[in-house]
Amino acid sequence: MFSLSPPVRALAADLIAWRRHLHAHPELSFQERDTAAWVAAQLERLGIAPDRPTETGVVGVIEGGRPGPTVALRADLDALPVQEENDVPYASRRPGVMHACGHDGHTAILLGVARVLQAERERLAGRVKLVFQPAEERPPGGALPLIEAGVLEGVAAVVGLHLWVDLPAGTAAVSPGPVMAHAEEFRVTIAGSGGHGSQPHQGVDAVLVAAQVVLNLQTVVSRRVDPRRPAVVSVGTIQGGYAFNVLAPSATLAGTIRTFDEETRRRVHAEMERIVAHTCAMAGADGRIEFFGGYPAVVNDPAVAEAVAEAARAVLGADRVLPQEPSLGGEDFAYYAQRVPACYFFLGAGNPAKGIVHPHHHPRFDIDEDVLPLGVEILAGAARRLLARPAAGS
Ligand code: NI
Repeated sequence: MFSLSPPVRALAADLIAWRRHLHAHPELSFQERDTAAWVAAQLERLGIAPDRPTETGVVGVIEGGRPGPTVALRADLDALPVQEENDVPYASRRPGVMHACGHDGHTAILLGVARVLQAERERLAGRVKLVFQPAEERPPGGALPLIEAGVLEGVAAVVGLHLWVDLPAGTAAVSPGPVMAHAEEFRVTIAGSGGHGSQPHQGVDAVLVAAQVVLNLQTVVSRRVDPRRPAVVSVGTIQGGYAFNVLAPSATLAGTIRTFDEETRRRVHAEMERIVAHTCAMAGADGRIEFFGGYPAVVNDPAVAEAVAEAARAVLGADRVLPQEPSLGGEDFAYYAQRVPACYFFLGAGNPAKGIVHPHHHPRFDIDEDVLPLGVEILAGAARRLLARPAAGS
């Protein structure tokens, strides 16, 4: 029912074997030494000279037979500090480390693409850069060091995918615009002054101020942000106070912010700073807010997203290519997309009939391996389409 070319069909067993090898040998962010060496060896076997621009990053280039643009495809290599609970022959052999997000599948898919496109390189106009990136899971992430090492030089478009168990196997989700949020943490520290609960006029009650700050922060999204721009400000914790009859001298709040564009993000920060400062000042307390950054939002380029959607429709059928509901998770693919027209899409990998229902990062996370060839065909198809585009600005 899917449209797979004979070379991709022939790859199915290798894709599963590669994915299982990687799954059994997971490595944490920035420690992907064995993984990177193994990927480099696989590229060499295909006749692609592996470049190692960072310690655990691997880049290979497929040179087309004719001149043309350069298109980059990106996979991430790292696993998570999770103890695997799946009882499968390919379960992690490293205690406390697990490919619990599907990056093993991403790497296998990109190796599959390497084999398919290398075999047809004489017919390609341009170059395909295969970017095997370390450390997606841990900010500051592995993307920026690769970019600083020049991996995007001369690149006209970048495509990446995530296997997604929330979507059924045999579907994909692609959309232009923001698809993954900028996720940040904030912490508010309120300094009042303590005293006896029976003599509130002698102190500055930090618990009362904290309560007012929580309520006032709710006006940021409801009254200060353009209602057409999605944003979330959630306070997750309040801590303060010692006993029922003691005025709390201090309190702290922590929470999370999610935004999809820089302007909204800056607005949210500025409003939160103002509200914290003035709410505290009103009560005679001191207030301070700090922000702890995550990855920026991933924003898909419309033309690149359309090339990916076309490729996905050709493989899966039009009714199996869905709009991509923005995810509130973070993803350092954002750094490529900030610099080069890019598309990050989701490939369905969930399958309740096979018991593949556990969410990403769960100790029993798994993927439906039958979707690996679909990923290869879609990525390769997207690369072919992007290479065939007239060069921008020429
Ligand atoms: Ni992931």
